[in-house]
Amino acid sequence: MSEQPIPTAGFGENEDLHAFEQEFSEVDNSRLLDIRPLPRVSISAFCVSPNIQATVEAIGHDRRLSRVHMKSVSGGIGSAIEFFTDTPTPNLILLEVGDDYEQLIRDLDRLAEVCDVGTKVVLIGHINDVQMYRDLVRRGVSEYIVAPVGQIELIQALSDLFMSPETDPLGKTIAFIGAKGGVGSSTIAHNIGWSISSSNQQDVIITDFDIAFGTAGLDFNEDPPQTIADAIKAAERLDDQYLERLLTKCSERLHLLTAPAVLEHTSDFDGDFFNPMVELLQNSAPYTVLDLPHIWSEWNKRLLLGADDIVLTAEPDLANLRNAKNILDMIANERHGERQPFLIINKCGMQKRPEIKPKDFAAALERDDYIEIPFDAPTFGQAANNGQMISELGSSSKTADLFDKLASDITGRSEVVKTSKSLFAPLLGKLKK
Ligand SMILES: Nc1ncnc2c1ncn2[C@@H]1O[C@H](COP(=O)(O)OP(=O)(O)OP(=O)(O)O)[C@@H](O)[C@H]1O
Ligand SMILES: [Mg+2]
Repeated sequence: MSEQPIPTAGFGENEDLHAFEQEFSEVDNSRLLDIRPLPRVSISAFCVSPNIQATVEAIGHDRRLSRVHMKSVSGGIGSAIEFFTDTPTPNLILLEVGDDYEQLIRDLDRLAEVCDVGTKVVLIGHINDVQMYRDLVRRGVSEYIVAPVGQIELIQALSDLFMSPETDPLGKTIAFIGAKGGVGSSTIAHNIGWSISSSNQQDVIITDFDIAFGTAGLDFNEDPPQTIADAIKAAERLDDQYLERLLTKCSERLHLLTAPAVLEHTSDFDGDFFNPMVELLQNSAPYTVLDLPHIWSEWNKRLLLGADDIVLTAEPDLANLRNAKNILDMIANERHGERQPFLIINKCGMQKRPEIKPKDFAAALERDDYIEIPFDAPTFGQAANNGQMISELGSSSKTADLFDKLASDITGRSEVVKTSKSLFAPLLGKLKK
């Protein structure tokens, strides 16, 4: 009888088993526990050597990356440049690079030209040189990992990049508020959140702060048992895992934190009450939409002023004009040096309604940049009744295009950014943010 090989616990090659044992014997357990799960980010990996590709593919199945959209392909930096020339870049590009440093710099410059704002770049290379590492970091590369790299080491490096207390929060918040009640602010917030998640392929959490009357659940045809009221009740012990359980998955990249829409409680909270919750949301996804109610309380004001971007929606009448002016003046006073709010003039051209011409409305606010959305009762009514977004209806694509454009303007992930090329710009600057 011929000698049978000793079974290797599911590992085809002894080499793999050896690598596995080595990795786990080297890792101290406390480090394993320290690694925090990654947020909802997208990662595209381009690997040249089969070993590194296998490591990258394996970490894609790790529970700490369960929220990550991970794609891994065989190819080098050249393939990445070619691929991203006409495709939006993910939150992170992981690249295995060669030993020719001069060539690497040239390739990174070319890659920077096709990278969208906010994309981080992590390199796996074979040169162990501190000076080169510093130079790459100065050029905007987030991390250079020297090969060979183990699974735990790689997960740790990626987790540190997004979850370390020293780094800025991953996500941006976009606050939506109406100059008056009922102007369409929530509808616009939901459609733009949807556009960011579908057209820009970025993960979004829509949070409905209109606790008693919010419509996020209705607009997306969702009626989850868990809502923002649970987060409020558990405010003292709210952490990312608990918050995670309260989110409702609406599509591949869109999650909701809906309002309970019951009158059990009134909305009396301290000014900073929602700060920890917003911080958790920011560390959970690249974009959080704050759908704010039309009330003027300290907490609502702070959510508005604390957001990375603001979208103000108004209808073209006198009361809206007065309120919009007050809101814009207040924001200008409180947020020096920040991007001014996006201005939407909604429900324009309603039959028989006397209205201020959008151009004059904007001019009175000293604004020439604004977005005009026509009054379109059949389309918006059908969307609301079906619990669908405008672009899902498939008919009136003009308004859907406006939402897509605004989504691109807010995220900076537009075609304009992709094609802008400068000979002398610090090319990796765009990768850094
Ligand atoms: N351009 C539009 N044309 C027609 N109807 C619209 C348009 N925009 C929004 N609507 C409708 O207006 C109604 C109010 O919209 P929405 O609830 O989004 O407003 P809001 O400003 O969030 O109100 P609230 O003050 O209650 O928060 C909804 O029925 C919505 O479908
Ligand atoms: Mg609303």
